[in-house]
Amino acid sequence: MLQYLQQLWETNSLSPHGICLLWRPELIWTHVGADAAIGIAYYSIPIALAYFVSHRSDIQFGWIFWAFALFILACGTTHFFSIYTLWVPDYGTEALIKVITAALSIITAVAVWVLLPKALSIPSTDALRRLNEELIQQIAERNAALAALQAEKTERLKTEEMLRQSQKMEAVGQLTGGIAHDFNNLLTIVVGHLERLERQFRDDPTVYRSIKGAMDGASKGAALTQKLLAFGRRQPLTPMRLNANLLIDSMADLIRRAVGERVTVDVKLDPSLWPVEVDHNQLENALLNLAVNARDAMPDGGHLTMQSQNCTNPKIEDGQTLKGLFTLLTVSDDGAGMSAETKSHAFEPFFTTKSVGEGTGLGLSQVYGFVKQSNGHVEIHSEGRGTTIRIYLPRAQGQSQHSPAANPDFALGTPLGQAG
Ligand SMILES: Nc1ncnc2c1ncn2[C@@H]1O[C@H](COP(=O)(O)OP(=O)(O)O)[C@@H](O)[C@H]1O
Ligand SMILES: [Mg+2]
Repeated sequence: MLQYLQQLWETNSLSPHGICLLWRPELIWTHVGADAAIGIAYYSIPIALAYFVSHRSDIQFGWIFWAFALFILACGTTHFFSIYTLWVPDYGTEALIKVITAALSIITAVAVWVLLPKALSIPSTDALRRLNEELIQQIAERNAALAALQAEKTERLKTEEMLRQSQKMEAVGQLTGGIAHDFNNLLTIVVGHLERLERQFRDDPTVYRSIKGAMDGASKGAALTQKLLAFGRRQPLTPMRLNANLLIDSMADLIRRAVGERVTVDVKLDPSLWPVEVDHNQLENALLNLAVNARDAMPDGGHLTMQSQNCTNPKIEDGQTLKGLFTLLTVSDDGAGMSAETKSHAFEPFFTTKSVGEGTGLGLSQVYGFVKQSNGHVEIHSEGRGTTIRIYLPRAQGQSQHSPAANPDFALGTPLGQAG
């Protein structure tokens, strides 16, 4: 081996390559020029490659660039050596450089072929752009789905809240109605006995005064139970066919007196209003309660409006629809309005924001119970200032073809049994 290498560098018997070219300048200098140009180019390429790879960390298979750089550097060196051997017959070193170049060429060539399938599987810029667009599309779809889900959740929470609220009103109504009913029966017994005592002790002023005092207390108790029965939808009602316009008209003076001079009362009535079938006294009571509440909400005065109109399948709160024909009675004020919290409790019995002695909390609960017991619907609208209470009452069946005013059916509060 050593001998082989020694012989490789044995140059005494060799002549420089220039001799083969007979030292013809045109041949010599053309070779020198071409080899020099190739060598310089081959040396500059690895520098560019090295610069590129070291500045692009995202490049995959970076090592192949380095292998290519070494290979081309070796090629450049062989060209420079071709110039050298024109004058110096150092063919041994030249052969060694060629061997190194060959090894590097083979390694690079094999690596390139091995790498080819992997390189082909890298998505093209076009494919990447398409993927990117698909991704953007998917993100948009997912965002839309998320928004829909959120909207659905909000809607569901709202419905659940409504259900809870109506279940609560139902439960409180049943409890109140049950207690009030039993209590009313007990009061009837108490009053019955008190009346008997009253008759017996009419001539004894001391006992009679005590009986009267007990009677007063019992009457107040009876009035209270009536209100609770109203909320519990268990008050005895006497429904009659009536025209709410006439009822409102007949109450206008009473209402004006109740609300005082600082509140102006507007009455807007639909002349073709459908008749309703409700308890006359309780409807009057309800409207009066609403007017008094409006007055309390406008301590410095304001406007109270009472309105009547017909509605077919009206849209009510929370986007629901009431199926059928309804007479809508509205009482609005431009007073303080209700907070969301007050609004959510306003129909409950004994709920009041007024101080002791000023409010009992039984006004709106009466309105609620009466309207529900009459198969109607009542709701509160109050956002910011002002409050509007809407009472929907079902249109009375078998309406006469005549105009309400000309129809004897519509005499104020004709009991149903007597209506023509
Ligand atoms: N028109 C209204 N404007 C503002 N708040 C009102 C109105 N009507 C009722 N409210 C609120 O609802 C509560 C309950 O009313 P209600 O049942 O009539 O009881 P009360 O009038 O005895 O307080 C009131 O205390 C008040 O806070
Ligand atoms: Mg009230």
